[in-house]
Amino acid sequence: MNNRELINNDNSKSILNIIHDAQIDWMHACGGKGRCTSCKMIVHEGIEHFNQPTSAEQRMIDNGRLAKHERLACQNKLNDDIDISVAETNKFPHIEYSA
Ligand code: FES
Repeated sequence: MNNRELINNDNSKSILNIIHDAQIDWMHACGGKGRCTSCKMIVHEGIEHFNQPTSAEQRMIDNGRLAKHERLACQNKLNDDIDISVAETNKFPHIEYSA
């Protein structure tokens, strides 16, 4: 499960859907509506490939729930290569994550 590389050619899908289509468990407590932060991605590389934050993300930024290098998987599509990891608080207990 660790260090998976996903290839995607369908830019109509959210990053959350791309992750789920690859059979990877990724939290999405509000069902992808931008109302929680359980789908939060820590963006290690490629933050410049994201569009401006959506209004849902901007609300999270304004209330301190989303940092500069964090984005919501349900609110973004893939524009180019990125390197992400799951936020510590959103890790599932049944999955062994890499450091
Ligand atoms: S699943 Fe709730 S904000 Fe993305």
